[in-house]
Amino acid sequence: MTKQELVSKAKAASQNAYAPYSHFRVGAALECGDGSVYTGCNVENAAYGLAICAERTAMVKAVSEGRRDFVRLGIYCADTEDFGMPCGQCRQFMAEFNLDMEVIIGRPDGETQTYLVRDLLPQAFTPADLP
Ligand code: THU
Repeated sequence: MTKQELVSKAKAASQNAYAPYSHFRVGAALECGDGSVYTGCNVENAAYGLAICAERTAMVKAVSEGRRDFVRLGIYCADTEDFGMPCGQCRQFMAEFNLDMEVIIGRPDGETQTYLVRDLLPQAFTPADLP
């Protein structure tokens, strides 16, 4: 699957975002080692602090289906012209599973930026730091 195809799945997922408070719709598409793809969107709540990001939705869906070998994660924000960078909580969640995962962020004009999780979260705290 090309980067554009993965971002396109993230874009489709952003249309399912439940974001009545922020009006900021985000989608994610997570590719696993076996080629399977899990999508996610952000899900907000009237108790604002309970909002769940698109990236974590996708990762939790994958883990709950038995996948942990995350290879690439596409992200798309429907309500900005810019690249939508993942929040700190999501970066930490990614670091739990694969510091070498590629994070591909798409912009509405079709441009993409690609990062490694280890560059998005330098000196990350990971399972390897636990005794
Ligand atoms: N959001 C994400 O889904 N992913 C991020 O990495 C950043 C923020 C969502 C959370 C909230 O629903 C909305 O965007 C505004 O912060």
